[in-house]
Amino acid sequence: MRGRALLAAVAALAMATGLAACAPGPDPSAPSSPTAAPRESTSAPPGPTAPLPSPRVVPGPPDLGPAAAPGLVPRLAAMRQGDLAVVARWATPPGRSALGDALTASVDRSVREFAASRGAAWAPGVDVVPGGVGRTCGGATLATPAVSTLTIDCSIVAAAGPLLAERIVVVRRVAGEPTTVSRTVWYADAATGTIDDGTALYLPGAERRVLRSVAEGLRAAGRVGTADDPFAGLDDAGARALLVDSAATRSGVVVTLPHATAGAAAGTPPSIVSVHVPGRLLSPYLSERGAAILAGVATGEPYAAPSAPTAADPVDCTLVACVSITFDDGPSSLTDGLLDILVERRAPATFYVQGNAVQNRPETARRIVAEGHEIANHTWKHPDLRKITDDAELREEIRRTQGAIVAVTGVTATSLRPPYGGYDVRVQALAELPLILWDIDTEDWRRPGPDVVVERSVTRSAKGSIVLMHDTHTSTIEAVPGVIDGLRARGFTLATVVEQFGGALPGAGSVLTHGPR
Ligand code: NI
Repeated sequence: MRGRALLAAVAALAMATGLAACAPGPDPSAPSSPTAAPRESTSAPPGPTAPLPSPRVVPGPPDLGPAAAPGLVPRLAAMRQGDLAVVARWATPPGRSALGDALTASVDRSVREFAASRGAAWAPGVDVVPGGVGRTCGGATLATPAVSTLTIDCSIVAAAGPLLAERIVVVRRVAGEPTTVSRTVWYADAATGTIDDGTALYLPGAERRVLRSVAEGLRAAGRVGTADDPFAGLDDAGARALLVDSAATRSGVVVTLPHATAGAAAGTPPSIVSVHVPGRLLSPYLSERGAAILAGVATGEPYAAPSAPTAADPVDCTLVACVSITFDDGPSSLTDGLLDILVERRAPATFYVQGNAVQNRPETARRIVAEGHEIANHTWKHPDLRKITDDAELREEIRRTQGAIVAVTGVTATSLRPPYGGYDVRVQALAELPLILWDIDTEDWRRPGPDVVVERSVTRSAKGSIVLMHDTHTSTIEAVPGVIDGLRARGFTLATVVEQFGGALPGAGSVLTHGPR
């Protein structure tokens, strides 16, 4: 009840002042750039007799752009089914992190709930969003319009030292229903592993006092009448909920208030209003955590991107559209160069190695595992297993390779790719491992040139595809950057084969040519 009254009040203030939907117009009392953090208290701290700086409306919520936090991993989940579309962009620190886990779980919940609410099952797709997985944040738009949409986009609010603040905005548009927006700023401290949302900046119970400052800023800008309190009647919980988009800047906090479009036409984007509250006004109301976050942001230190020098980031192939690139017959003299490309692009791959090659190049085999790729069995010396008539000899081709892989890397391979893709029921019965084939054959061994390998990999892949290549041809290695970039541009997330199956492949003797679709 109170929440509804407040939403109406904020909506009323937006309408009364002609606040433009979606993009508030320039405000004469605000700094010239919406992304520039006000600096009055950092460049020249006022003396004890100086008047306190005042809260004021600013043109929009702080958005530093992706360049402020280099090294983040772009994420994209998208779906298109008839008139229904979902686009979710978010960014996670490399490797596994509390922030990454929390954001991914939150996106996962939102997209599945939205799909279910429209009578659809969540089914990630590609070619939905221009640019695919290429950008860190921004541009959660559709290639073609849809009637009902859920868009989730991220922006970088603050990044200093180990501290990262990322805003997630969820916009739900359904024909005949009011458009709803939810905005949250998440704070992550890589040094301590803690994550919080914007409400954690404040002492519990101090929320209404913070909103009093926000109201002062609204009154000063003429957004509400001089005697009006737009937050009258709010309880602590209601006040707290309003403060979830609280963005720490070098001089204070910018509070951005979302509200439903009460009385507006269906589909109209909800308005927002952002108020900068100086840190000196806030200090009595800050929690210990909030004070630490503001102090951290005020240092102005460059963002210390977490170091995770591998190609592997957590991936859930039921949430995003996965594809696997695979390399057979190595490791070879070319494999280290390939690994350099993969780690530079944070692209995981699956290597079907020959036992004798592992024995010859143990350092490279160890690198494959250490850098987050999957290593699997491609027999000892590459025979057509169907032609080995002796059962023991056939088994030995596989077992000896298993032994070399575990001896050199410490990892037990969990699948077999039979050379030439050759298998029959006898091979299946003797393999003791699932057989992994492919659905996209680049035929790179015919040396068609890198452009052809890129074209075949990128245009033919579908969700769940397994792309066959060989790390024994220079032209294949040359094609790999284009393959990775091209797949990502369509919206694919690269995953190892075992990741496509949620970490556990089907049983021994199974034959698979692609992941779940
Ligand atoms: Ni082979």
